[in-house]
Amino acid sequence: MAHLKWTSDLNTGIEVIDNQHRRIVDYINALYDASLTQNRDEIAKVLEQLVEYTLSHFAFEEEMQAEAGYPFVKAHQKVHQLFVRRVSEFKQRFERGEDIAEPLLSLLRTWLINHIRRDDADYVDLVKKNVLKIEPKPDKKWWKRLFA
Ligand SMILES: [Fe+2]
Repeated sequence: MAHLKWTSDLNTGIEVIDNQHRRIVDYINALYDASLTQNRDEIAKVLEQLVEYTLSHFAFEEEMQAEAGYPFVKAHQKVHQLFVRRVSEFKQRFERGEDIAEPLLSLLRTWLINHIRRDDADYVDLVKKNVLKIEPKPDKKWWKRLFA
C-alpha cells in the first residue's frame, strides 16, 4: 500500500469541494502513516480527525445541494449515512482493540474515489450554476471546522 494520490480527474471543478476532498485524501494518507507506526494513540487521533472532518464535509455538501435545488439530496444523504455507519463500525472495532487499519484504509480509498467519480459528479453541473447563492453558515459547528 502506498499513499493515495490526487489525480486531476478527481476534480469536480467546484473549488471548495475539491479542497475538501483533497483534505480527506490527506487524512487518509495520515491514517496510513499512523498505521505504519502501530501507535494506537496516534491512529486514534488521526481516525477521530478524519471522521470529524468527513462529517463536516458531508454536511456542507448536503447543504450546498439543498440550496442548489439538487433533486437527489435525500439519496445522496443516504449514501453518506451508510458510509458513516460502516466507518463507525470500524472505529468501534478499533476501540475494542482490533487491528482494522488495512480493511479500513481500503474501504476509505475505494469508497472516496468511487463516490467522487460517480455520486458527486452527478450534482456538479447544477451546483456550479448555483454556487454563488450558497450562504455562509458561521453559526454551524461543521462550517467552523471547514472554514475557520
Ligand atoms: Fe458526497
